[in-house]
Amino acid sequence: MVVGISDIETVAVIGSGEMGRGIAAVASLAGYETYINDIDESQLVEAKEQIQWSYGKSVENGAATEAETDAAIERLTFTTDLEEAVGDADFVTEAAVEQQSVKEDIFENLDEIAPEDALLTTNTSGLNITQLAETTSRPGQVIGTHWFNPPMLMELVEVIMTEHTVDGAADTAESIIRSFDKTPIRCKIDIPSFIVNRLMRPYGEEPAWMVYRGEHSIKEIDSAMKFKAGFPMGPFELADYTGGLQVRVEAEQDHLKDDRPMSYDTEVCPILHQLYDKGRYGRKTNAGYYDYTDSDEPDIPVDAGQGFDSLLVWAPIINEAVKMVQNEVASVEDIDTGAELGGNWPTGPLKKCDEVGADVVLEKVTEVANRHTDTDKVAETLPCDLLVEKAKNGGTFY
Ligand SMILES: NC(=O)c1ccc[n+]([C@@H]2O[C@H](COP(=O)([O-])OP(=O)(O)OC[C@H]3O[C@@H](n4cnc5c(N)ncnc54)[C@H](O)[C@@H]3O)[C@@H](O)[C@H]2O)c1
Repeated sequence: MVVGISDIETVAVIGSGEMGRGIAAVASLAGYETYINDIDESQLVEAKEQIQWSYGKSVENGAATEAETDAAIERLTFTTDLEEAVGDADFVTEAAVEQQSVKEDIFENLDEIAPEDALLTTNTSGLNITQLAETTSRPGQVIGTHWFNPPMLMELVEVIMTEHTVDGAADTAESIIRSFDKTPIRCKIDIPSFIVNRLMRPYGEEPAWMVYRGEHSIKEIDSAMKFKAGFPMGPFELADYTGGLQVRVEAEQDHLKDDRPMSYDTEVCPILHQLYDKGRYGRKTNAGYYDYTDSDEPDIPVDAGQGFDSLLVWAPIINEAVKMVQNEVASVEDIDTGAELGGNWPTGPLKKCDEVGADVVLEKVTEVANRHTDTDKVAETLPCDLLVEKAKNGGTFY
């Protein structure tokens, strides 16, 4: 029997890195007794300093009062002792390193130590949550709660169910996330990358293929997507900013082996490998798609993308969003909310589809797929049945 929201008093966060400390700061400020655990004492020391700094910022910008943040600091306990952290916890969030084996060990331990009705969650960015759940004797109470960085500022949290998750667990997870003053969206099936990163993938990859094939330039696409289409960053600028290229290449083999529904079965664009092999991971290595030796900001001329059709980038994203609706992964509203709050995109992909018309989107998806006929990506890029149906009937999503 999983805990209900009214019974949750104590939260435990495992891993006090960038995400764990942010999640703990949010939980404590929301009024929960909060334990934060790490195997590395120095990380806990740093976490405490950083939480104090971010609470200071919250007071400065009027998001919290000093009395509230002082009380929140009092509610936080920093400990390397897992038993102390989770012994009384009602809601546990694991935010340790992104390695399946490390997380599986943690879940095995949580299963032994945490109270019987505790809800056990993971902040994994994309690892197999079903397998994590299966390391415990209570797979129905294990669920994904995927936060965005930085947790104190980003409003969205994805709640990911596995085939084992009981409805009560998902409801409790969403309720506690709302009590943190965040917005949950529900991913009803444990698929690789969940909702938001699933939409992000074509945003990064289709443009890479266009550049690789010599059809468009990096600056042309970045300028069009940023200054014409209203995305916060162009796809190449974003990849350099997040260092996503390194993660993507290093995770490629894991993705290809993943046996969850909607797994990816294609390799990444060779241009990513070329950059990876040269150590050009993005801003953190001073070079990625752009060079950052002389400036932290890439030089993207405002008018360089005038001739580029941004629907060529939107189309595969919309197709991916429609596939998620077709496979009942998430609701139309949740998918759009994910894009708007998780990616800060100008609109959600399904609203965009309604705005331009499914028939126009279908044409563009087909055009993009046709450009892939000589790669193994063609199957992945073909229009899905629901998009074809909407295009035929003039159907909309709203
Ligand atoms: N950084 C992001 O933007 C982001 C966004 C969403 C999700 N995530 C996910 O959140 C998780 C944490 O990411 P991060 O960026 O905070 O990583 P991080 O490297 O900053 O922190 C990981 C922490 O886990 C600790 N740790 C390792 N093994 C542990 C164990 N057995 N028990 C307790 N603590 C342990 C480490 O000492 C470290 O302090 C990962 O699964 C990551 O994929 C990260």
